[in-house]
Amino acid sequence: MCSCNFRDKLTCSQKVNSNIHDGTMLKIKAFKEYTNAWLEKVINYSKKKQMLQYVNFVDCMASSGLYFNKNRNEFYDGTAIRVLEIFVKSARKYSNIQFSIYLNDIDKQYVKCLNCIKKREKLKFPNNLNINISNKDKYDFISTIKYKNSFNKYTSKSLIIYDPYEVEFEWTKLVPILQLNADLLITHFFPNDIKRNINTKNEKVVKRYESAYEININEMKSIFESKKNAFDRNVYFRNTLHENLKKYSRKKFIAYAPIILEKKLHVYDIVCVSHSSFAQELLKNTMYKLYKETESKSQIKNYYQPKLFDDDEEDMYQKDRGSGVSEYKFHYDDSHIVSMFYNEFSGERLSKEDFDKRLREHPYLPSNILKLVKKTCKYQIENKEVNGKIEKYYIFPERGF
Ligand SMILES: C[S@@+](CC[C@H](N)C(=O)[O-])C[C@H]1O[C@@H](n2cnc3c(N)ncnc32)[C@H](O)[C@@H]1O
Repeated sequence: MCSCNFRDKLTCSQKVNSNIHDGTMLKIKAFKEYTNAWLEKVINYSKKKQMLQYVNFVDCMASSGLYFNKNRNEFYDGTAIRVLEIFVKSARKYSNIQFSIYLNDIDKQYVKCLNCIKKREKLKFPNNLNINISNKDKYDFISTIKYKNSFNKYTSKSLIIYDPYEVEFEWTKLVPILQLNADLLITHFFPNDIKRNINTKNEKVVKRYESAYEININEMKSIFESKKNAFDRNVYFRNTLHENLKKYSRKKFIAYAPIILEKKLHVYDIVCVSHSSFAQELLKNTMYKLYKETESKSQIKNYYQPKLFDDDEEDMYQKDRGSGVSEYKFHYDDSHIVSMFYNEFSGERLSKEDFDKRLREHPYLPSNILKLVKKTCKYQIENKEVNGKIEKYYIFPERGF
C-alpha cells in the first residue's frame, strides 16, 4: 500500500497532486455543487415514478482525490473526496437505490492515493455504495463503461466527468461515453491554451488540436488570425467544439459556464452535455450561486495568481463581448443579468409553464431570476381559470418594467 500518513504534510503531501491553482479549486467546487444539485434532481424526479434503481458517478481522470496546495501549504479536497461524501449521505438516505462511483487515472501514485482514501473511508460506506478505482488510459477506461450493467438500464441515472489537462478530444474514442444515457461535464481548456499553441511545431499538440476541432492546423491558424479579438476567437473555438459534441453525442442540450478568475482571466469552460434541459439549468444555476458565494467571501481575490504560465501574455478580453461587456459581467453580474432578462421578456405575457421552460432553456439566465428582477422592475401576475384549473401568467410590460 501507500507509504505515507494520510494528510501528513511531510509524506502524503509529496504523493498527492500538487498541480493546483485558483481555477482548479473553483472547478472542483463547481463539480461538487453540480453533483449535489444533480443528485437531488434525479432522485426527486424519479422518486415520484419509483423508477430509479442505479445512480452512477464517473470521473474518467480523477487525479489523486486529495490535493496539496504548495503556495498555501495546505491540503485541498478534490472532486473524488467531495463526491464520495455526497454519495455516502445519499446512499444512507435512499437504501433502495444502488450507488456507484467509478474513479480512473493513468497515474499509478494518484490511484494509490484514491485507494488510500477509499480504505480510510470504507467504514462509513453503506452496503448500497460501491467504489471502483482503476488505473487505465482514459480511452481504454471509457471503452469499458458501456459494459457495466448499471449504466444501460432505463432505471439508471449517470453523471460522467471528462476533465483532461489539455484540449484532448478523440471523438470516436469518446463516443462510448458521449452516447451513453448519461449527463456529462467536460472541461474545455482554453482560451490562452490555444493562443500559446497555435504556432506550435510539436506534432502531438497539432494532432490534438486537429482532432478536437476537426480542422487542419493551417486553416485553424488563418481562422485564428482573421478574428479581430480574443473574444471572437474564443467564440469560434467554443462553437466548433460544441458542434462536435452535438454531432458525436446526439444530445440536444450543450451548455457552458466559464471559469473566470478575479472577474477577468477566463481559464476554461465547463461544458454540460445532456438529453435534458434540466442539466443545462443546473449548470448555470450552480455556477451563478458559486460565483455569488465566492464573491461574497472575496476568495477569488485572495487566491489569485496573476500569471498561470510563464511565457505568454494572458488574454483577459474584459471588454470584447460587444459594447464593453466583460465575460464575467455577461455571465455572473446581477445588473447585467437583469438587463438581459429585460431584453428577453419585456412586452411578453407568458403562462408560468412557458416562462419556466423558456428560462430553463435560456443559455445564461439563472432560474431564480425573478428574485433579482423584483428588486428593480415591476411585473404583474395574473391568475386565470383555464378548463377549470387556475393558471398563473406573468405579464412583463414593455415600459415601466
Ligand atoms: C485535470 S486533472 C483531473 C482532476 C479531477 N477531475 C478533479 O476534479 O479532481 C487531469 C488528470 O488526468 C490524468 N491523466 C492524464 N493523462 C491521462 C490518460 N491518458 N488517461 C487517464 N488519465 C490521465 C492526470 O494524471 C490527472 O490526474
